[in-house]
Amino acid sequence: MSPEASKEGNDLVVVANRLPVDFTTDDDGSISWRRSPGGLVTALEPVMQSAEGAWVGWGGAADVYADPFEADGMTLVPVTLNEDEIEQYYEGFANDTLWPLYHDVISQPAFHRQWWDAYRRVNRRFAEAAAAQAGTGGTVWVQDYQLQLVPAMLRELRPDLRIGFFDHIPFPPYEIFSQLPWRRQVVEGLLGADLIGFQRNGDAANFLRIVRRLTRHSTRGQQITFEDGEGRPVREIRATAFPISIDSHRFDELARQDSTRARAAEIRTELGDPEIVMLGVDRLDYTKGIRHRIKAYGELLDDGRLTVEEATLVQVASPSRENVDAYQELREQVETAVGRINGEFGELGHAAIHYLHHSYPPEEMAALYLAADVMLVTSLRDGMNLVAKEYIAARSDQQGALVLSEFTGAADELSGALLVNPHDIDELKSVIEQAARMEPKEQRRRMRRLRRKVMADDVAKWSSSFLRTLEEMPVSPVAPELQ
Ligand code: G6P
Repeated sequence: MSPEASKEGNDLVVVANRLPVDFTTDDDGSISWRRSPGGLVTALEPVMQSAEGAWVGWGGAADVYADPFEADGMTLVPVTLNEDEIEQYYEGFANDTLWPLYHDVISQPAFHRQWWDAYRRVNRRFAEAAAAQAGTGGTVWVQDYQLQLVPAMLRELRPDLRIGFFDHIPFPPYEIFSQLPWRRQVVEGLLGADLIGFQRNGDAANFLRIVRRLTRHSTRGQQITFEDGEGRPVREIRATAFPISIDSHRFDELARQDSTRARAAEIRTELGDPEIVMLGVDRLDYTKGIRHRIKAYGELLDDGRLTVEEATLVQVASPSRENVDAYQELREQVETAVGRINGEFGELGHAAIHYLHHSYPPEEMAALYLAADVMLVTSLRDGMNLVAKEYIAARSDQQGALVLSEFTGAADELSGALLVNPHDIDELKSVIEQAARMEPKEQRRRMRRLRRKVMADDVAKWSSSFLRTLEEMPVSPVAPELQ
């Protein structure tokens, strides 16, 4: 479809690598879909359900050609990727180059020119799909690190649009970002947006510093100014923090339901009625600090500071990016550690760690949160971490203790959590023990504070404040000069 075809298109188009659903081809060749994983989908789904607009994204499988369709109150517009593109753009450049680079190089990023070519090619396809969906003068909101070139590509195709970009993951400091052979192109791609949002002030500050180092645009506070040859300002962009959240009220309500409470009690019985249930919920990703958490817990058992009769750890590790080597290695390391600790400390009827390599629907998650006395979020680096916020939203009983890594975006916001440096295993052990032994009164005091924040700052507030700020940006009269 040509961009002209869009005259009667949507006022709001969200563009994300993933649709909120994954396609699967059934035995009879028909295509069906189910919910897809991750924080981005969790955050954007309620936004799109309450807005009139389209969501452009990939359906999670190769070579699926499908027309736009309605699902769960949203218009979904599938973008097709072939197997090579999945390998080079998604598993390669997005998740084996950018993901580790933007997460403190916890895993070594791989730089391959072919992957970069695929990234550019696929970003162009997303830009074209968005251009075809957006109505004249409409708003397009591009999401996350997989699509950083889309803003500039889209501006070239459709200078009439307002373009926003939100980075869901950390934005690294110049010293790390500058390793990227295509660093200038990525910055220029982002600068096609009118408003660039980040999780934390520190991420926005990193980006602004990178703009100063790598381009000739000037910055003042959050403002980036493009100038013409005579030094006259021709375009203004803003880069600032919009910490993301969850649909807090939905989670709160879900967790208040009798069926959820009954399921929570049942889970505790199934676990052998331990005094202390500890819980970790993550995609199986090396950024999440799962190994550190398991190591600390194993040492607490070894020291006799906790026993399997009194405490158990439930670790939900949902499958993620399973074709990427670093993820396969992590899975082996985690499963070896779980097996060793269970073999050494487990007893009949008392497993040390209940390891679940699945993902679960929100109803079951709410019950798990309610069943957990201690929630462990020990990421080595994390854009925000919505699991921490879900746990809080589920605890209207004002019980439970949250152990939270200081390297999450959430740590900037959630005073009331027990903050920890997960690299410091001794400190992690003490903080886990402190959480496990916390008096109900202290739990209530902290949880009340945490809930005030999470219940007030929900995802609807996040998206409306981003979109309002975008609407208030001056429309730039000229196409960007990006060199
Ligand atoms: C993080 C990223 C999202 C991504 C999600 C799941 O939350 O910020 O962009 O969708 O992980 O990862 P996946 O690779 O399965 O889409």
